[in-house]
Amino acid sequence: MTEHSVRVSRILPTAVKKEAAVNSSVVSRRSILRLSLALSGLMTLTGLLRFLGYQPTPTAPVRFTLDLLGDYPAGSVTPLPQAKAWLMRDEAGLYAVSAVCTHLGCTVNHKDAAFECPCHDSRYDLAGNVLRGPARQPLNHLELSLSPEGQVVLDTSVVVPSSQRLTSSP
Ligand code: FES
Repeated sequence: MTEHSVRVSRILPTAVKKEAAVNSSVVSRRSILRLSLALSGLMTLTGLLRFLGYQPTPTAPVRFTLDLLGDYPAGSVTPLPQAKAWLMRDEAGLYAVSAVCTHLGCTVNHKDAAFECPCHDSRYDLAGNVLRGPARQPLNHLELSLSPEGQVVLDTSVVVPSSQRLTSSP
């Protein structure tokens, strides 16, 4: 073996290694590119499937079938947390008042024969009239009706005059 051939054999493996390293680097870049394209395609497909399968969140119920009218005695104050309302019966009949404070929408609590808002301390009487601000508007009165079976039905989407009462006679 000549000196020249020894040099070539020493140099050649290094050159091959460098080329292999370059090729492996190119392959690696291609792999990364393919992988990122596949991932972005997968994400697009997932988004599309989510869009196609999108179902709007159900709206909160506004009608509530309650107990029989006779189950609410005169003077009773019944919380209806699922409806955000209070059901009361005075000598004139049954009525429902919204538990949503007219100031900024907090839920009022029944306390000492009145309704009090825990957020900014507004106070309402049992008819929903403002006793103390910052609320300026009375609590809304909500529609009550009787089902054919005689059950009280509350519709929280309908505001009625504060004088309206539900009685057993039409
Ligand atoms: S939200 Fe009720 S007093 Fe402010």
